[in-house]
Amino acid sequence: MKKFVLAAAAVLFVMPAVQAADDPVATRKAIMQSVAASAGLSGGMMKGEIAYSPAAGKAAIASLNAAALSFGAFFPAGSEAAPGTTASPKIWEDSAGFAAALAKFSAATGAAAQASGKDGPADVDALKAAVGPILASCKSCHEVYRVQK
Ligand code: HEC
Repeated sequence: MKKFVLAAAAVLFVMPAVQAADDPVATRKAIMQSVAASAGLSGGMMKGEIAYSPAAGKAAIASLNAAALSFGAFFPAGSEAAPGTTASPKIWEDSAGFAAALAKFSAATGAAAQASGKDGPADVDALKAAVGPILASCKSCHEVYRVQK
């Protein structure tokens, strides 16, 4: 019985990883949803709608940085035709240009992570300085490498 429970637990544990590897479109969309959530949290604090805390600023920046570093790994050939994707075929036609857009994104998130230090940006002005350049990269990438469906 104990063995069976352990085996069942192992199967449950392994399945999400298999799903992620098999579904790059769902993975890259989930990464972008986390980017949007972190941008929303940062924007809310910048506007004063959400009370600022350095820990929240740090969480937003760390998740943006992880997203920028991992996002580019989920664009295998052929996935431009997958149902539900808004990735533009330009990503595959101009892979050097897309790599440059990703590099711009991760340069901005990396600089923010570095500037935010161990405890996160000290105040809202420090958050604005760190996150502003990251928010500026959303539109320029989407305009070229995303299609509206
Ligand atoms: C380097 C390019 C790039 C950058 C920078 C970028 N995105 Fe995206 N984003 C994409 C692509 C490509 C898709 C389409 C993914 C798909 O549908 O397969 C996307 C999709 C999205 C989606 C839709 C996710 C879904 O569930 O379909 C949201 C929301 C989003 N991005 C928000 C943002 C925000 C906010 C920022 C800036 C903080 C940002 N993105 C920066 C390329 C980028």
